[in-house]
Amino acid sequence: MTDSLTVRDNRTGQEYEVPIADGAIRAADLGKIRVDDDNPGLAVYDPGFVNTASCRSSVTYIDGEKGILEYRGYPIEQLAESSSFLEVAYLLIHGALPSKTEYEQWVHDITYHTFVHENIKSFMEGFRYDAHPMGMLMASVGALSTFYPDAVDIHDPANRHIQTVRMIAKMPTLGAWSFRNAQGKPFVYPDNELSYTANFLSMLWKMSEIKYQPDERIVKALDTLFILHADHEQNCSANAVRSVGSSQVDPYSAVAAGVGALYGPLHGGANEAVLRMLKRIGTKDNIPAFIEGVKNGDERLMGFGHRVYKNYDPRARIIKKACDDVFEVTGVNPLLEIAQELEKIALEDEYFVQRKLYPNVDFYSGLIYEALEFPPEMFTVLFAIGRTPGWLAQWNELVQDKEQKIARPKQIYTGGRGLDFTPSSQRWA
Ligand code: SDX
Repeated sequence: MTDSLTVRDNRTGQEYEVPIADGAIRAADLGKIRVDDDNPGLAVYDPGFVNTASCRSSVTYIDGEKGILEYRGYPIEQLAESSSFLEVAYLLIHGALPSKTEYEQWVHDITYHTFVHENIKSFMEGFRYDAHPMGMLMASVGALSTFYPDAVDIHDPANRHIQTVRMIAKMPTLGAWSFRNAQGKPFVYPDNELSYTANFLSMLWKMSEIKYQPDERIVKALDTLFILHADHEQNCSANAVRSVGSSQVDPYSAVAAGVGALYGPLHGGANEAVLRMLKRIGTKDNIPAFIEGVKNGDERLMGFGHRVYKNYDPRARIIKKACDDVFEVTGVNPLLEIAQELEKIALEDEYFVQRKLYPNVDFYSGLIYEALEFPPEMFTVLFAIGRTPGWLAQWNELVQDKEQKIARPKQIYTGGRGLDFTPSSQRWA
């Protein structure tokens, strides 16, 4: 037995040996299978890349059947329980846990890069009062590329590092200012005496008090949520960052593409959609009718299902537990009862069981964000802040991967061919 396929092309009777490595075959090997030299070799058609590996990566490991998630080999449960978001960010970016000195330097560097150019402030003030914060975040992250033109030198490790630090440091500032713009409140500058997550809360909520004093239980819960969102291998937004980054553009433009992908309701926008869904259901009595709507395709159970997890998303389990800690401070979110009843019914219902649809990371996170008094349109901004180290770890890996090329997939052409053009003057005469 060898690690290979023997493929027989019945159009020609020819046989091909296709090597198998790491559980995959190379599409290029299938390209050698052709009828004759005048026709292209075989391509692989895979909408949404459901069964296509785009890269080799050592950042995050997921086993969807077993509900396993590990960052650089460390189980998410242990990191969520005992690490901090900035330590996890260090781990994702550098590939190893930091020493005390490395961690202190990392925290110092990030703390002292939280400010953004004053022009960003006037740029943000140009948005409508009701602009969606994700639209503002996507625009302002992209705009950062114009403030750091040296970021184009992506092959210089020191340059990659400073841009990585800047983006992790500035994402909360941009996110908080997007929120303050929507609230019509003055922008709050970073407070470098506060921890990363406490500073974010200060920029969100500080008003006339001299110094914002966050509740440490809330800081811990939000820091844990950031850890849970930090990376997730080749999800839609990581793929966007890699695809745009493969053109060798600066990292700000690549991450702005990731923010755009995350904005979508099937991806990071699902947490906002879950809250709106729960509010629309309104009471437990309306759940059976809603479930029927899902089954006949009129509704989608937002926060359920996953391309990879065919088991309970391990992050959802942790977030569900974090709900209790947050609700101890804020009071229980009345929508929690509807969410729990919805989950109970769905997990027993054949439609969901057969399709292996379980709660994902977005199902419970919105309940915590709402309890923390974030408006739904801010939920995906919180996701983006957490995901930034993951996007940058993927981008750094892409830039150093000698196997990578500019992303340019094939297509199956279905349009017309060789048509004769008639100029409009004749067509319309
Ligand atoms: C995130 O990829 C990642 O890692 C993403 C993420 C990350 O950390 O980066 O984990 C974050 O994006 C989580 C997912 C958040 N999105 C939602 O909660 C939106 C609702 N879920 C879905 O739309 C859906 O489950 C996806 C988009 C998450 C996954 O879609 P797939 O893998 O393309 O699966 P599919 O749409 O082909 O669904 C398979 C079947 C279909 O039924 P049939 O057509 O075979 O009859 O399951 C059904 C779907 O209709 N289905 C659902 C459903 N999700 C899938 N039916 C009802 N409600 C749902 N939520």
